[in-house]
Amino acid sequence: MSDTTFTISTPIYYVNDIPHIGHAYTTIAADVAARYYRLKGRDVMFSTGTDEHGQKVEKAATERGVKPQAHVDEFCERFKELWKKLNINYDVFIRTTEEEHKKVVQRVLQDLFDKEEIYSATYKGWYCTSDERFWTDKDIIDKACPDCGKPVEEIEEKNYFFKMSKYRDWLVEHINTHESFILPKSRKNEVLGFLKKDLEDLCISRPKKRLSWGIPLPFDNEYVTYVWFDALLNYITVTGYNQDEEKHRKFWPADHHLVGKDILTTHSVYWMTMLKAAGMDIPGNLFAHGWWTVDGKKMSKSLKNGVDPHWLADTFGVDEVRYFLMREVPFGLDGDFSLKNFIMRINTDLANDIGNVTSRIISMTYKYFDGNTPECSHLNEADEEIKKKTEEAIQEVDDLYKELAFSKILNAVWDVISTLNKYIVTQEPWKLNNDEGKERLGQVISTCLEALRIVGILATPFMPEKSRKIVEAFSEVEGYQELVWKTLPGGVPIQKVENLFPRIDDKKTEKIIEEFMEREKTEEENVITIDDFFKTELKVGLILEAEKVPKSKKLIKTKVDVGEDEPRTILAGISEYYEPEDLVNKQVIVVANLKPVKLMGIESQGMLLCGCEEGKLYLASFAGNLKPGSEVR
Ligand code: MSP
Repeated sequence: MSDTTFTISTPIYYVNDIPHIGHAYTTIAADVAARYYRLKGRDVMFSTGTDEHGQKVEKAATERGVKPQAHVDEFCERFKELWKKLNINYDVFIRTTEEEHKKVVQRVLQDLFDKEEIYSATYKGWYCTSDERFWTDKDIIDKACPDCGKPVEEIEEKNYFFKMSKYRDWLVEHINTHESFILPKSRKNEVLGFLKKDLEDLCISRPKKRLSWGIPLPFDNEYVTYVWFDALLNYITVTGYNQDEEKHRKFWPADHHLVGKDILTTHSVYWMTMLKAAGMDIPGNLFAHGWWTVDGKKMSKSLKNGVDPHWLADTFGVDEVRYFLMREVPFGLDGDFSLKNFIMRINTDLANDIGNVTSRIISMTYKYFDGNTPECSHLNEADEEIKKKTEEAIQEVDDLYKELAFSKILNAVWDVISTLNKYIVTQEPWKLNNDEGKERLGQVISTCLEALRIVGILATPFMPEKSRKIVEAFSEVEGYQELVWKTLPGGVPIQKVENLFPRIDDKKTEKIIEEFMEREKTEEENVITIDDFFKTELKVGLILEAEKVPKSKKLIKTKVDVGEDEPRTILAGISEYYEPEDLVNKQVIVVANLKPVKLMGIESQGMLLCGCEEGKLYLASFAGNLKPGSEVR
């Protein structure tokens, strides 16, 4: 926290989810703030990443039949791809499976252990596998997890605990004495309410026999680190803790951790007490934003009814998506995504307001001054009003960024736009294009151009591409990227700006809504289209060879002729049901365009289809004798 740097983070996302607009929301918000502070000349550290350890990830990998590392490598890319598409300019993308991070986690654990902030004890409690946490008798409801509702199991085992309870009073005091520590303010009471109950010590280990996919405890190799203890420490790994102390001192403590409301407790209670115990500085602010629903329905993990951000960006444009998410709902409140509202905002706020005012001003500059800035040595009262309004907006926006009030920031910018539109109407520049009017016309156009330049700069963090086009129109003006009102020098060429935001007419709206409904229906009913089906290439295969994979209980390695030059190596998890020799010469159905995966060090180049009854697998085959490589449809 300093006037020269700015540190902001998003949560790190679990890699068992396909990224949806909920994830995009936080990441866009952090990107907007980071872009603004870069523009203000600060040295920015904006981090995001993926949370790759823990039971959920291990389970997701097992279900897909791949190793956890292969699973996380693949899913992490989905987040990176989306951030690239949405023009997210992060400084660090952290993955918790990286070596540097593992070292940070182990160092902090060892430090806390040495300081006797961590102790071991036998614990008896109710364990929720889904949430990966213990509950006490009084927490559970009908032997189910109070958070996710799934059944809990009673477990008694030795574990390691962090002395979180002893920091309760300090934390309450910190929250009460730091006004902006938890924002929005309404969330502060929620955390204080939670702290009114007895705060227990935090179990920070999981026995390896139950979960191996985690960072080993440095002081007991039989255990791995609880996933939240591991994940929260990402925030100091990204600032260079344990690797680059100078960088760490520069960027720590963070200015803002952005989190969804569901993970405010883990951040405000676990993370802050961890930092306190480790003797580290406390971040300036935790901002808990609300949750998005889609047409009133909860967004599900599998993207069923979760709006696909790729589709939105492809259909409407990246800047449009970024603008809508930041404008539609005050940051901190829940919001509902409705396509109709989205299209309405594109047509009003973007096409009618900012798009229209830009093309109006630039075309007047071309019409009356051949595309050059007019001379302007004097501003009259009306022009001064515009200048004042714009300067006030610059200040207001700066204040609002401190509270991350994104929608209010956009309101302030759009206020300038609407004042500017009214100004054009009242000044009637089209009536001034004559000998007596020419000087005044120059003042009006000059005022309009300068206000437009500032509007462009203020809109850039939200809509980097389209706003850049506005700002770049002024690239021949010295200091054109400066966020201060200046009287433009005369005779400087201004670039033309294409139609920034074309209107979406009724016909197109209808078509898009139809496509959207079709997607929703498909996702809701869990049906796929014929096109989806044909993405899977199925072929007739003939098993030429088969052998057990050493040390594997399930895998058989087969060589399968699928009509290509070389037979393919395909691994199948059927060793419990078939002897290898019984498989030779069997005709099978092969999924031929599956991305190869390595299992037990062997690359599998496809998949054999099986029927499954009561957990037992039966290879699928044909009634007739078909040529290897024939299509299956
Ligand atoms: N891995 C943890 C965070 C660890 S941070 C040290 C996690 N991951 S998550 O992928 O499940 O969720 C990440 C973020 O996405 C959370 O802030 C959560 O609130 C947010 N969202 C998930 N669904 C959302 C919506 N429908 N709407 C808005 N944000 C939502 O929790």
